[in-house]
Amino acid sequence: MTEKILVVDDDLDSLKLIGLMLQRNGYEVLVANTGAQALAKASSDHPDLIILDVMMPDMNGYEVCRRLRMNAQTKTTPIIMFTAKTLIDDKVAGFEAGADDYLTKPTHPSELTSRVKAILSRNTQRRAEASTGNLIGIVGVKGGVGTTTLTLNMAASRVLAGNNVLVADFVLGSGTMALSLGLNHTQTMSTVLNKPLSEIRPKTLEDEIVQHTSGVRGLFSSPNPRESLQLFSSESALATIRALRHLSETVFLDLGSGYSQLTHDLQSELDQLILVGEPNPIAVHLTRALLDEVNLKPAIGGTERVHVVMVSRSQSANITWADAEKTLKQPIRAIVSSGSELIAQAFQAKIPPVVMQPSAIFSTQIAKLAEDLVSQASTLSRGELVS
Ligand SMILES: Nc1ncnc2c1ncn2[C@@H]1O[C@H](COP(=O)(O)OP(=O)(O)OP(=O)(O)O)[C@@H](O)[C@H]1O
Ligand SMILES: [Mg+2]
Repeated sequence: MTEKILVVDDDLDSLKLIGLMLQRNGYEVLVANTGAQALAKASSDHPDLIILDVMMPDMNGYEVCRRLRMNAQTKTTPIIMFTAKTLIDDKVAGFEAGADDYLTKPTHPSELTSRVKAILSRNTQRRAEASTGNLIGIVGVKGGVGTTTLTLNMAASRVLAGNNVLVADFVLGSGTMALSLGLNHTQTMSTVLNKPLSEIRPKTLEDEIVQHTSGVRGLFSSPNPRESLQLFSSESALATIRALRHLSETVFLDLGSGYSQLTHDLQSELDQLILVGEPNPIAVHLTRALLDEVNLKPAIGGTERVHVVMVSRSQSANITWADAEKTLKQPIRAIVSSGSELIAQAFQAKIPPVVMQPSAIFSTQIAKLAEDLVSQASTLSRGELVS
């Protein structure tokens, strides 16, 4: 995409000269020769950078700069002040008004273009850092229903599709996800949650992320029972998932089972929450109860964000789909069929079942669910940004 630069100068010769120079370097150039025009164009045309003269008859550059910084549309647009003034005090005034850089006239063309390039690339990087991936939390309505298997395989199916995803296993001390992948050194979740809050940042977490040969990456828990005694604050857990979402397009979180303190603390931050149940009357009642609890918070509740997935680990279900939905008062989002044999084989090979046999029914069901949820999460978060 061609980057747009707004050049503001009351001197028409300067405007032409700078404009030509920038155009020759491949930028799209907009011009304004008064402060008022600059303000209008900056908010209507959304330039990527503004080069601003200081001495202008209607409104000086400092004032234009201050007003740009007060307008929500332009408050983060990079600004280079460009002026014949050379006193230190003028530079200080420029920075105080909110400029990002300062150039004095006359400037060599190569200096102007190199400053422009530097500022634009800094800004692109800042924007990339500010952009965040989606968080999909998975919680079992009770233990042993298949939560971890679903979490790992949804993530693995997105890896197969070429997405940059992460798993976050929050079930300290019962690291079945890492075990099923044959991973060692898997206390990385515990290590991160143990760090001082100020150190739970994307950069520091990068070093803790473990990668499996299948391409699945994430923070894992170990099978060391002592790990489950570790206390951590909700601030640490929140900082962890916020850092992780900066490092990937989607994070799949294994939140364990039941309505834990962790799920309570993290739920508002999640883009999607999946309740994993199984097709029997007791599990369906537990699912209904958990739905009631998470739906208490309007920000997270609702069928767009909270989904019920039924895992049918054995062949037979002892409740009909219709009866289950009647009790739930909400549609079942997806069903995962029994994949016992495939799961056993994949365990031997230490790879996720969906990677071992992507075309098995178990795998296609999970891949479809993961694909739909990721695209729904993206649509929802885009919607929020616009509104
Ligand atoms: N779709 C499936 N078909 C057959 N077996 C399954 C399926 N999903 C999971 N299982 C098996 O069920 C058992 C429990 O699965 P898993 O560990 O994923 O559940 P969980 O809800 O995370 O358990 P926990 O509460 O202990 O964390 C495992 O032996 C797993 O292999
Ligand atoms: Mg589990």
